[in-house]
Amino acid sequence: MWFARIMLVAAVASAQERAAKNPHTTPVDVAAGARIFRSHCAECHGLKGEGGRGPSLTTGVFFHGGTDADLLRNITGGIPGTAMPGVFFSEDQVWQIVAYVRSLGRTGSTLPPSGDAARGRKVFEAQRCLDCHLVRGEGGVQGPDLSVIGSQRSVEHLRQAILDPNAQVAREYRVARATHENNSAYSGFLMNEDTHYLQILDFSRGLTSLVKRDLRQLRIENNSLMPSYKERLSEGELQDLLAYLWSLRRGPLEEGGSK
Ligand code: HEC
Ligand code: HEC
Repeated sequence: MWFARIMLVAAVASAQERAAKNPHTTPVDVAAGARIFRSHCAECHGLKGEGGRGPSLTTGVFFHGGTDADLLRNITGGIPGTAMPGVFFSEDQVWQIVAYVRSLGRTGSTLPPSGDAARGRKVFEAQRCLDCHLVRGEGGVQGPDLSVIGSQRSVEHLRQAILDPNAQVAREYRVARATHENNSAYSGFLMNEDTHYLQILDFSRGLTSLVKRDLRQLRIENNSLMPSYKERLSEGELQDLLAYLWSLRRGPLEEGGSK
């Protein structure tokens, strides 16, 4: 694994030396890049780069680096430790994707949602979001860490996550409920599964392996553990909450490092 990573880094480093500027920027390249984008990137970044499970690519700001070489590297190898995957396209094709991403320019808004972030923080506390979510070291761990969620997702995605959590449940947050033949009950996030075994991050026991044959019952839920807040928030509270989540970004110094 580390070997592959070093090879990849070396390959990308030499690619950067060869071509720090994108050699594929004609309209034909942009159109080819757009096609790949629609089939491989849009599910997370939106059909026009407006964002979704991944950030908007239309603000002109790239936290992970905004030079051609940075974009080539991040799209080729993905961004380790995040949901951003790498791709198996040729370097020429990745340059075409870069050309398309560049063509999006600054068409999207960098303006925060209209609500009040300080009031949003109060809503966040009053609604007990912290029971399940960590924000900068404080809170629970039954849901994803939201410390920099504003840099990672679009506002539209955040709105949907709050109003309709079941619409999109990330793989690692699917809940499994099992009853052993000795009647012990297990429930937690489904970590791994094959024909014979099941690994659950059980809510009270921690990581637990079970043999499927020994189970009386097994149910994998489609629903999120997170309740919907559709009926619990006024439109004003929702706006404030979105402004608060949006404000949870990587620091201004770090953001300043990108172009
Ligand atoms: C499974 C979801 C997913 C897919 C598919 C995906 N991305 Fe991403 N991408 C993300 C996430 C999440 C981030 C933010 C990572 C972070 O900063 O935590 C990201 C970050 C990026 C960034 C860096 C943004 C910045 O601010 O520096 C670029 C550029 C990018 N993606 C382009 C692409 C392109 C082009 C494709 C298709 C070849 C693609 N992504 C496919 C989820 C995805
Ligand atoms: C009972 C636990 C629980 C509570 C309470 C809860 N959440 Fe969640 N939340 C989750 C889980 C689990 C997920 C991941 C599965 C999913 O996407 O629904 C999640 C996902 C999210 C996401 C999407 C994160 C991403 O990576 O895209 C956001 C945003 C979010 N929650 C915000 C909130 C806010 C705001 C509140 C309070 C109004 C709240 N949550 C209350 C458990 C919870």
